[in-house]
Amino acid sequence: MSTIDNTRVGTSNETGEPVLELDDVGKSYGNVNALRGVNITVRQGEVTCVLGDNGAGKSTLIKIISGLHDYTEGTMKFNGEVTRFSSPRAAQAIGIATVYQDLALAPLMAVWRNFFLANEIRNGPFLDVGTMKRICGEELTKMGIVIPDLDRPVGGLSGGQRQCVAIARAIYFGARVVILDEPTAALGVKQSGVVLKYIVKARDAGLGVIFITHNPHHAYLVGNHFVILKLGRVVLDAHRDELTLEQLTGEMAGGQELDELSHELRGVDPGRVAAPHAVGHGAVAAPDLDGGLDGGLDGGRHASADGS
Ligand SMILES: Nc1ncnc2c1ncn2[C@@H]1O[C@H](COP(=O)(O)OP(=O)(O)OP(=O)(O)O)[C@@H](O)[C@H]1O
Ligand SMILES: [Mg+2]
Repeated sequence: MSTIDNTRVGTSNETGEPVLELDDVGKSYGNVNALRGVNITVRQGEVTCVLGDNGAGKSTLIKIISGLHDYTEGTMKFNGEVTRFSSPRAAQAIGIATVYQDLALAPLMAVWRNFFLANEIRNGPFLDVGTMKRICGEELTKMGIVIPDLDRPVGGLSGGQRQCVAIARAIYFGARVVILDEPTAALGVKQSGVVLKYIVKARDAGLGVIFITHNPHHAYLVGNHFVILKLGRVVLDAHRDELTLEQLTGEMAGGQELDELSHELRGVDPGRVAAPHAVGHGAVAAPDLDGGLDGGLDGGRHASADGS
């Protein structure tokens, strides 16, 4: 069933080298403090999951790391050196690839054109179409991505396939860090599984993967390291062996707030609202990492407030 190899997850003592280190990083937009005192270390060969609710500061964090915005406090180090990017291009040049949910690829262009976008191979003045198609095919096959017709416009691929092409491209062009911005947010169970599989492949290729998500179930399936942001601050930073899925889900949901909400709702219609423990923390079974992608991929939707 599951093809995720999670044998390396959970053995967090053998961590890779830090590739990106944020030390007390803050960002203000005028008098709005979007991020404050953020410390995060991203290591090679690890998936660092950044979780947080709306407005937590996730996008701001991505923008800083990907060179779109500068930080206003603290320091960011890449390979041990203090770094400030002047533009997204500067971040890309150093090896930081960002896969945005919708903007990852140009929908009307063929798969192979997208793969080589801005990095085209030329033969004299002409595009070397044959070589580009061949390499694109080889690289996608290496990742286990099956796309029969590389001339097909990317817009015709599923959302999951598009994410996977973008991940394969980042690996091929030598990214050291790949940031995935909510890659599973708009996907169904099966396609989320496909994307999670390639997140693991990127990790195993030695990249430092930053996986931004709202979904603790998806995070726990592939993550080595978990950071929760709340109102611009880090409220949890834990390695996999320090944290259960139940704890992560509870922290994400805001355990106590959820208990209170559940209590309130039970007052409204006691028969139809799940008990507090069934909503956010405690009742959602930890997925079986060896064989249980399906166990956790629906993000606990079945433990919803209507008790279904
Ligand atoms: N350009 C901006 N100007 C002013 N305030 C901003 C700007 N961008 C973000 N903010 C504020 O910074 C805070 C963090 O926003 P951010 O977009 O980083 O959160 P997020 O975690 O990505 O949320 P979401 O899950 O809704 O995308 C919010 O209070 C937001 O209103
Ligand atoms: Mg955002």
